[in-house]
Amino acid sequence: MRIRFAFVVLYFAILTIVPSCTASQPPATPAAPSTSGTPSGAATLQVHGNLAQAMRGILFPASNVIFASQDKNPDEVKPAADPSTAINPLESSFGKWQAVWNAGIGLAESANLLSIPGRKCQNGRDVPINNPDWPMLVQGLRDAGMTVYKAAQSKNQDNIVMAADSMTTACAACHDKYREKPNLADRCM
Ligand code: HEC
Repeated sequence: MRIRFAFVVLYFAILTIVPSCTASQPPATPAAPSTSGTPSGAATLQVHGNLAQAMRGILFPASNVIFASQDKNPDEVKPAADPSTAINPLESSFGKWQAVWNAGIGLAESANLLSIPGRKCQNGRDVPINNPDWPMLVQGLRDAGMTVYKAAQSKNQDNIVMAADSMTTACAACHDKYREKPNLADRCM
C-alpha cells in the first residue's frame, strides 16, 4: 500500500515537474529588455541590468583589484582570517596575484556582456552596440583584460602598472565618447 502510494506520488511529480523544466522559461522580470537570438540548443542570453548596473556590479570591483595591485604587491597581501568568505579578492582563497589575473579575466569576459543585444542605459536608450565604434571600444576592454591577465601571471609589479594603464585607457576611451555628458539623457548615443 505504501509503495503504491509512493508510486502514485512519483507519477504525479513527474507529470508536473518534467513539463515545468522543459517549458521555455519566461524572463525573470517582465519589464526586462528582450533576449537575443542564439543558435538552437545554446542557452539563451538574458539581460538583467542596465549598463550602469553592469559597470557597478562587475567592471568597477574588478578594476579596483587591479588598481590596488599597482600600489601594493599582491604577494604581500595577508590572507583574511577566513579566506573562503573574504570580501576583498586579494585576501581570499583565490587571492594575491591570482586575484589580479582573475580580475583581468573578469574584465575580458565582461566585454561579452557589453556586446549582447537588449541592454539599456540608465536613461532608457539602447546600449549602442550597433554604432560602428562600439565593438572597437569593447575590444579595447577585452584586450586590456587579457593584458592584465598576462601581467598578473608574470607576478611583476612593473608589468601590472603598465597593464593597469592600458585598462584605464580602455575604460576612458569609451567613457569619453558615451558617458561623460553634462546631461544623463545624452549618454549612450
Ligand atoms: C564600451 C564602452 C565602455 C567601456 C569599455 C567601459 N565603460 Fe563604464 N560606462 C559606459 C557607459 C556608456 C556608462 C554609462 C551607463 C549608463 O548611464 O547607463 C558607464 C558607466 C560606468 C560606471 C557607472 C558610473 C555611474 O555614473 O554610476 C562605472 C563605475 C564604470 N562605467 C566603470 C568602468 C570601468 C572601471 C571600465 C573599465 C574597466 C569601464 N567602465 C569600461 C561605457 C563603458
